[in-house]
Amino acid sequence: MSKIGFNTGLALSAALVTEKAAINAYYMVGRGDEKAADQAAVDAMRTGLNALQIKGRIVIGEGERDEAPMLYIGEEVGKGTGPEVDIALDPLEGTTLTAKAMANALAVMAFAPRGGLLYAPDVYMDKIAIGPGYAPGLIDLDKSAADNVMALAKAKGVTPEDVTVCVLDRARHGHIIDDLRNLKASVKLITDGDVQGVINTTDPDTQVDMYIGQGGAPEGVLAAAALRCIGGQMQGRLHFRNDDEVNRARRVGIDQLDKKYDLEGLASGPTIFAATGVTQGDLLDGVKIRHGKASTHTLVMNSMDNAVQYLRSERPVKAG
Ligand code: FBP
Repeated sequence: MSKIGFNTGLALSAALVTEKAAINAYYMVGRGDEKAADQAAVDAMRTGLNALQIKGRIVIGEGERDEAPMLYIGEEVGKGTGPEVDIALDPLEGTTLTAKAMANALAVMAFAPRGGLLYAPDVYMDKIAIGPGYAPGLIDLDKSAADNVMALAKAKGVTPEDVTVCVLDRARHGHIIDDLRNLKASVKLITDGDVQGVINTTDPDTQVDMYIGQGGAPEGVLAAAALRCIGGQMQGRLHFRNDDEVNRARRVGIDQLDKKYDLEGLASGPTIFAATGVTQGDLLDGVKIRHGKASTHTLVMNSMDNAVQYLRSERPVKAG
């Protein structure tokens, strides 16, 4: 697998693309229109990607070719010169958050060399993640939430009461939440946005120690790409609700449907991750437009030197 071209310059190019997507989505914040918000981010992300000197291929995108006119799985993007790049993207992670002007919407993207990212179908994934600094194998998707929290508490030298677990606020997670509350662990419920839920486990300021629950598989791969850069542990397993979802998996080459993926199975090799805040959030500030200028806040990371950068950018916006 070639590492040529996977460098800080490419990481900054990725950041430029998520910045543009976030700015375009900003204009749809609070407009109550999830589709239009997503489309705004998609349009800008596609234009941004096509301006890059890469031979890019979307491996996680807006859907399959027959259902997504842009940024569909398999679409070739970039100028067609430079490094071969597999791309996972979620132009707007938090469409509802954006439509309702709620916190924590992001524009997100990851780059890896060919084959570096799991070609995950658009189905659910069961996920568990913790931040860096723990012995390998500390968490296990096949164990209960309580068992995982007890293992983490022991490793941290604290009691389960001192452990905070981030969980998507969904009825399907009732048993996980009950399990955690019986243990007196703290449960941080989020309405959307589990890419950030996973990333928060790497940042002690968020006080989130663990992420558990079922969310989108594409978001699982994006979160894994982030952890590859910043450190941490993650496991995921695809969850299928019907035959159509199974067929989606088979179409992207997945044969072992019940496979438990570790971090390397989700994202491997040199990896780049970029996310720009759309609305104000815990991890990143949202886009602000003032005096004809758009300011953005972007997290860009790469696994080559484990660099984690926060970029604040300002650029003029066209009037009207
Ligand atoms: P969208 O931005 O595509 O709406 O996804 C938001 C999100 O909350 C993801 O972060 C998460 O993985 C997924 O939706 C959970 O799906 P569901 O809302 O069906 O529980």
